[in-house]
Amino acid sequence: MMTVFGQEPLNLLPALISIIFSTLKYIKDTIFPTYADLKGEICFLTGAGGGLGREIAIKLAKQGVYMCLCDLNLDSAKVVEAEIIGLGYKAKAYKCDVANPQNIAKLAEQIKKEVGEVTILINNAGMVSGKRLFEATDSQINNTFKVNTLSHFWAARTFIPTMVKRNHGYVVTVASIAAYSATPGLCDYGASKAALIGFHDALRMEVQEAANVKLLCVCPYLIRTPLFNKAKPMKLASIVPTLDPVDVAENLVRGIRVGSDFVLMPGAMWGIPLLKAVLPTPVADYINCLLGAETFMDAYRNKARTE
Ligand SMILES: NC(=O)c1ccc[n+]([C@@H]2O[C@H](COP(=O)([O-])OP(=O)(O)OC[C@H]3O[C@@H](n4cnc5c(N)ncnc54)[C@H](O)[C@@H]3O)[C@@H](O)[C@H]2O)c1
Repeated sequence: MMTVFGQEPLNLLPALISIIFSTLKYIKDTIFPTYADLKGEICFLTGAGGGLGREIAIKLAKQGVYMCLCDLNLDSAKVVEAEIIGLGYKAKAYKCDVANPQNIAKLAEQIKKEVGEVTILINNAGMVSGKRLFEATDSQINNTFKVNTLSHFWAARTFIPTMVKRNHGYVVTVASIAAYSATPGLCDYGASKAALIGFHDALRMEVQEAANVKLLCVCPYLIRTPLFNKAKPMKLASIVPTLDPVDVAENLVRGIRVGSDFVLMPGAMWGIPLLKAVLPTPVADYINCLLGAETFMDAYRNKARTE
């Protein structure tokens, strides 16, 4: 019999119907989303002691989620814990260096005993060395990948198997628009975030049998938090203002509740991967320089020279 793409025409028909059905369902879910009730879920949130993590913690706690607040800095996590408890919701602060897989595994056991099975994993902790490739030390480069990328692997391997067994759970990967942008001084940071896009996409396919384990990747543009507070504002800032962490947290929580798999913030930033795909590289680099990418991380660079 004649085949099309190696398939008998009769086999293609159900595949086509399934593709059309999935696309229509995706459009319907985007226009008329249903919001999951998160009450009673237990969340393991990394980098919960400040910046974006604090806002996510407060927003999710208000949804009735028990927040396990993990941070390298226990004091700042305890401040967030006190804020959440003061508002009448549930939280507990834990010290954890996510760069260390043993730390994550040990803490997971402790949380299982003290609070219960984790049903929402949010890998949010992040750091930036801000050094150009030849100015960074080996250990700075290693650390960027340990904190920004590998920690996601360790936490996912710790918590996802139980979620899959119960066919229930949410996993959030906090990446960055830096995964797509060409910014001198962000070789390690950008690469550590680009790796997360590949991690998220492959992992989503690996756990797809558990239909109720939802994976969400968020790629925010510059947020007003301490992470990049020394960076020189890009000329782009007058066109696309930096993001308020409260709004980013709001979008992230909405993404969890409606079952989104990818959220790029703000939407206008889709222009970056799109232009990268269609423009010749020298033109894209020229526009990038005009927008101020070349000097964005200068303050970190100067610091590196004087250290
Ligand atoms: N700020 C931005 O412009 C921006 C933009 C896009 C994406 N992001 C990403 O958002 C996430 C949150 O960033 P932020 O802006 O809130 O940064 P932040 O520096 O304000 O907060 C990061 C938190 O992570 C904690 N942390 C750092 N290393 C850790 C470790 N080894 N173990 C445990 N905790 C650790 C810090 O103590 C801090 O509380 C990061 O993954 C970051 O890459 C930030």
